[in-house]
Amino acid sequence: MSQPRQILVTSALPYANGAIHLGHLLEYLQTDIWVRFQKMRGHECHYVCADDTHGTPIMLRAEKEGITPEQLIARVQGEHQRDFAGFHIEFDNYHSTNAEENRQLACEVYRRLCAQGLIEARSIEQYYDPAKAMFLPDRFIKGECPKCHAKDQYGDNCEACGASYAPTDLIDPYSAISGAAPVRKESVHYFFKLSDSRCQAFLRQWTRGELSAIPPLQTEAANKMDEWLSGDLSDWDISRDAPYFGFEIPDAPGKYFYVWLDAPIGYMGSFKNLCDRTGLDFDAFWRADAEPELYHFIGKDILYFHALFWPAMLQYAGLRTPTQVFAHGFLTVNGEKMSKSRGTFITAESYLQQGLNPEWLRYYYACKLNGSMEDADLNLEDFVLRVNSDLVGKYINIASRTAGFISKRFEGRILGVECYSPAENHLQDTLLAQSAVIADHYESRDYSKAMREVMHLADLVNEYVAAQAPWTLAKDPVNDQQLHRVCSASLRWFAVLTLYLKPVLPQLAQRVESELFGLTQGLLWQDVAHLPLTKIHPYQHLLTRVDPKQIEALVEANRQDLQPAAAQPHSQVRHSQHQQHAGVVTASLLQEETPYLSIDDFNKVDLRIAKIVDAEHVEGADKLLRLTLDVGEAQTRNVFAGIKSAYPPGQLVGRLTVMVANLAPRQMKFGLSEGMVLAASDPDGKSPGLFLLSPDAGAQPGMKVK
Ligand code: 2FM
Ligand code: ZN
Repeated sequence: MSQPRQILVTSALPYANGAIHLGHLLEYLQTDIWVRFQKMRGHECHYVCADDTHGTPIMLRAEKEGITPEQLIARVQGEHQRDFAGFHIEFDNYHSTNAEENRQLACEVYRRLCAQGLIEARSIEQYYDPAKAMFLPDRFIKGECPKCHAKDQYGDNCEACGASYAPTDLIDPYSAISGAAPVRKESVHYFFKLSDSRCQAFLRQWTRGELSAIPPLQTEAANKMDEWLSGDLSDWDISRDAPYFGFEIPDAPGKYFYVWLDAPIGYMGSFKNLCDRTGLDFDAFWRADAEPELYHFIGKDILYFHALFWPAMLQYAGLRTPTQVFAHGFLTVNGEKMSKSRGTFITAESYLQQGLNPEWLRYYYACKLNGSMEDADLNLEDFVLRVNSDLVGKYINIASRTAGFISKRFEGRILGVECYSPAENHLQDTLLAQSAVIADHYESRDYSKAMREVMHLADLVNEYVAAQAPWTLAKDPVNDQQLHRVCSASLRWFAVLTLYLKPVLPQLAQRVESELFGLTQGLLWQDVAHLPLTKIHPYQHLLTRVDPKQIEALVEANRQDLQPAAAQPHSQVRHSQHQQHAGVVTASLLQEETPYLSIDDFNKVDLRIAKIVDAEHVEGADKLLRLTLDVGEAQTRNVFAGIKSAYPPGQLVGRLTVMVANLAPRQMKFGLSEGMVLAASDPDGKSPGLFLLSPDAGAQPGMKVK
């Protein structure tokens, strides 16, 4: 391998007043997978994070609970770290923004910005709560919307009509803390002068990638920045008045750094803490000409802070700027915003408490993440299908069908690759050739493509196992040598797939390495070509299927009735109906019951035009034909169809039909079936026969049928 890279990686710091939920986890899992991949490649990669502890909401929350902010943030940090560990998110350091390292760094950055003439003090007028004796952040002022006159709207925007405005525009404002009418009051604030021509010129160049070899932003993010930078930037208010939970600004008694000033500096603070513990060179990573790479994983909602304020702060404090900022989209559940009333605002803690396997979610998210800023959907039905069909039905299946023979018949010994047949050598080459492709997908955070590649390889191995039928070979000792070879090869390929999945499924991979193969050292990416496998220990069950009832229970556990029960008789009805259902809870189940299928339900069926490129008899099957279908994808699909009685295979080759393309793949005795073709028949059997559907002339393979 070329020189190991030095890499520092961060995820956004979670606020210290709320629980980690599945939306947060999208980001931490995205980052953790990337970091694990980099480490497997042999790079020096440090993953740091911290709780984001400062600001008015945290101060008020502690007050409400009757504890100090320090007590609150210590408790929440414990909860956060417990949840992260539960999902195998492995930080190299997890710290707090309310730490001495961070105070010193925040003050130092501030001093350097002052020295550059980029901090300005000026007096502004703001709403002040006379009862509570504090200035009110916009979110803590409510009143009537100046546009649509809806009551009780927040000080920054109206939830009824969507208008944005200044708190001083509200009609009849009141403090959301004390209820008192706020008064306007002047106070000195400190501003970071983003309007300075140096800052604007720098940010235009930086966001467009003109200052670095690699553009620091995704194209979609850079375009957004162009919009923001098309006008003049306003100065950024970085101070808040006491009372405030945060760091006091040097030489400015009663003035505190705004939480968003010391939050990103918290990345540095956490890393400093790591350096002090381990002897790493902090300055080597942060000085202006630092060579190590720096990556921030964030949600698209905080792009503004990371692509404007943060690089400008770093640049003018004489520090390095991020190599790249990776923004991701939001998480939706069943196609909608997470919702407490629908039970889809699911906390990490409840997921684990319900006994769901964290690696199921890691795999599902990996299938959904593609490195873009698009939103990702957690469809709970699809979650069950995907995990069961891919992880259990394809991947684990390889080991569970072959390991027993090696243990029982060959004392656990695995043969080496030198005994492979040409066909096995070919499959081996195919698996190894994908190593670079899969690595590229991980590197570019396109985990969905990486997972697709791995599952395609798993299909090939399953086809091989099905064709070799070790269970049949095992019936006659004359086949022992072949049985030994087939099962050895299959288990070696299972190890290859395990290695490819390791960034996503770290615990499972670790069990496969140590419990099944008896390895004492974790495998690295480069080991794939020479896996040190000689024996196995008896196969232990590795992964269970998701039971749809577990998902139902999870949603129930997270459902919160937000309105008084008496006010919503319908929801009571829906509730009891819903409890009679076994199976997955979906949005559709929560609607009133009707004899009809909703259009959303219909749309879940992915019907596609398929071209039958090959059709053949299946040995030993009375009713089935094996069809090879072109559905406009890179790979053809293998489908077993019960149409042998109606069509000689030769008649089918070349014709078009319709298939269900998103049916969960099914492992049959004869191989894996990856979909279903559609045929008409008389349910009463009065007019016998089967009639395969055909589209009109002009339809092409892969077209969607709607
Ligand atoms: O949006 C948030 O949840 C913030 N707590 C993220 C801070 S990220 C970084 F800048 F510290
Ligand atoms: Zn309004």
